[in-house]
Amino acid sequence: MKTLASLLTATALTATSAQAVDLEVTHWWTSGGEAAAVAEFAKAFTEGTDNTWVDGAIAGGGGTARPVMISRITGGDPMGATQFNHGQQALELVEAGLMLDLTDVAEAEGWKDLVNPSSLLDSCTVDGRIYCVPVNIHSPQWIWLSNGAYEKVGLPVPTNWDEFVASGPALREAGIVPLAMGNQAWQSNLAFDAMAVAIAGPDAWVDVVSNKNVELARGDVYAKVFQAAADARSLREGSNVQDWNQATNMVITGEAGGQIMGDWAQGEFAVAEKVAGEDYTCLPGLGVNEVISTGGDAFYFPKNDDPAIEAAQKELASVMMSKAVQVAFNLKKGSLPVRGDVDLSAANDCMKKGLAILAAGNILPGLDQSLSPDAVGQIEDLMTEFWASESITAEDAQSRYADIIESAG
Ligand code: GAL
Repeated sequence: MKTLASLLTATALTATSAQAVDLEVTHWWTSGGEAAAVAEFAKAFTEGTDNTWVDGAIAGGGGTARPVMISRITGGDPMGATQFNHGQQALELVEAGLMLDLTDVAEAEGWKDLVNPSSLLDSCTVDGRIYCVPVNIHSPQWIWLSNGAYEKVGLPVPTNWDEFVASGPALREAGIVPLAMGNQAWQSNLAFDAMAVAIAGPDAWVDVVSNKNVELARGDVYAKVFQAAADARSLREGSNVQDWNQATNMVITGEAGGQIMGDWAQGEFAVAEKVAGEDYTCLPGLGVNEVISTGGDAFYFPKNDDPAIEAAQKELASVMMSKAVQVAFNLKKGSLPVRGDVDLSAANDCMKKGLAILAAGNILPGLDQSLSPDAVGQIEDLMTEFWASESITAEDAQSRYADIIESAG
């Protein structure tokens, strides 16, 4: 006999009839663009199956949401499905036997032949079994520029990082914040990583984060990155916002000249009905090294005893991988699809730049695919301090960063 407690904890995963299931899905997509994108998943699942998507959005970004997701799963109050980034964030949950094996769905639908790059499916694979459905490719190494801000100061829109830095004084003179940046750890680290890929170069960045090359992390090449980041700190003064999309909005309104942010920023420009190439300009690799890293998002499904719920979980995985949903979701999300056999002719100029870089194979692993959550967390904490205060010199930050890379190795 089910106790009241077990009935209550099962509320998130109720089988309302023989097969129809209300499936709670948790994620951290709460900005305008993100909400528009996740609505495509919800619509396809609710309208295309007998089940219902119960939205479990958690505000505050991934750094806030993931601990909530993990504690619910380990605490016996699992949701039906949850977002994590490509990489190791759910590895311990999978290893603990708490997550649903999707290999039968993946094999029936041929994911191994569909998903590109294959590293996305590798990140879902533990001991040869597949535990997540990759849903997009997001790359963090972009800078988004306000064409209006540069028109206002009579300067051409920068074509690379150095031109952007050089435009700082003119923007400041006109009362425009040169560099918009929110105040969360992952945003500080994203900005630093994008600068490292641009200034040290993609090979050096991979050598440090993936191969843990501590000598390189301590050396002159990375000293240039830390010095550039120290110089860039002054560009962000006046950017008094918390969330990444608030910083994006500063660029949308021309209150700021630019923002280093992942290509999910496109979703915000789209919701604001801004046109890529006209209202804003995007520079992949900060206009220096045109690469994209294949980070992004995947959905995982906590195990459940009820076969109806498990069936609904596998249906959702299938819906998320389907061609039509891959197009509808990624066009709204500003990310690239995980499969190469879809028509993205509706993609805007910025997404087309990303697709061309992907097609050319100029790709890097995502940070979360290269470092453990613990190492990423330590670096994010360092970067929060570094970007917020001039009291930490470039040399100090570089030394502490190299120590973290050394212990991550
Ligand atoms: C990332 C995620 C993106 C994006 C961003 C900001 O971790 O991969 O989908 O939405 O967070 O919330």
